[in-house]
Amino acid sequence: MSRLQNKKRHLNVLTNSHSPIAEAYRSLRTNIDFSSVDEKTQVIMVTSAGPEEGKSTVISNLAVTYAQDERKVLLIDADMRKPTGHRTFQLSNRAGLSSVLSHQSDLEEVIQETEVSNLYVLTAGPIPPNPSEMLNSKRMGSMMQLLREQFDIILIDTPPVLAVTDAQLIASNSDGVLLVIHSGKVKKDIAIKAKENLLRVNARMLGVILNNVKRKASEEYYYYYYGS
Ligand SMILES: Nc1ncnc2c1ncn2[C@@H]1O[C@H](COP(=O)(O)OP(=O)(O)O)[C@@H](O)[C@H]1O
Ligand SMILES: [Mg+2]
Repeated sequence: MSRLQNKKRHLNVLTNSHSPIAEAYRSLRTNIDFSSVDEKTQVIMVTSAGPEEGKSTVISNLAVTYAQDERKVLLIDADMRKPTGHRTFQLSNRAGLSSVLSHQSDLEEVIQETEVSNLYVLTAGPIPPNPSEMLNSKRMGSMMQLLREQFDIILIDTPPVLAVTDAQLIASNSDGVLLVIHSGKVKKDIAIKAKENLLRVNARMLGVILNNVKRKASEEYYYYYYGS
């Protein structure tokens, strides 16, 4: 079990790689690496039951943590409804995933380098009217196959499971799922429903990250990771 503290919307693991937060993300990475012996875990999606539970925060910090381990990492912002990846890494979002899936751009043109070495980002692109349809397309499948050849680790940010079908569609292109649960916000039965929806599409649950667990009044905003 690891503890990840995160107070502001900056990348904690970047600002201080010796902090307990950075250490906690490293142990999350190790937990994921050791979660599978028989199956490879190259494409990992992060989701949650509802909005604002910390999906994008967790995935960004985790992406940096993998990149710091000398692995070539791609972060895909597949939350085409509320994209944030471009802001987190200060990138352009004029073209991105939606542009590739709608045949307006080539993949190579839109994958952007970040300030973090080994870390690349495919931003969400302009918000399309039909994200679910795009994510369910053949082009999405072939794009993922290409990317698997080019990157060691691919992390996919998604919209909430209970809001739209997007996360379930993305699960079929992923090797494993991390479920972020905002403990103060989300009731247990809602979180269980989110997990059930993912299991229904045969997603492999890698673990649950409990965000914002309050232990004492002085200790806010902790994450706890539980392997499944
Ligand atoms: N552990 C945390 N402590 C404090 N603020 C957090 C924490 N996790 C997320 N936040 C903040 O909550 C907001 C929503 O987080 P975000 O990662 O964007 O959620 P999601 O992607 O699930 O919608 C952001 O402003 C983010 O900075
Ligand atoms: Mg988000």
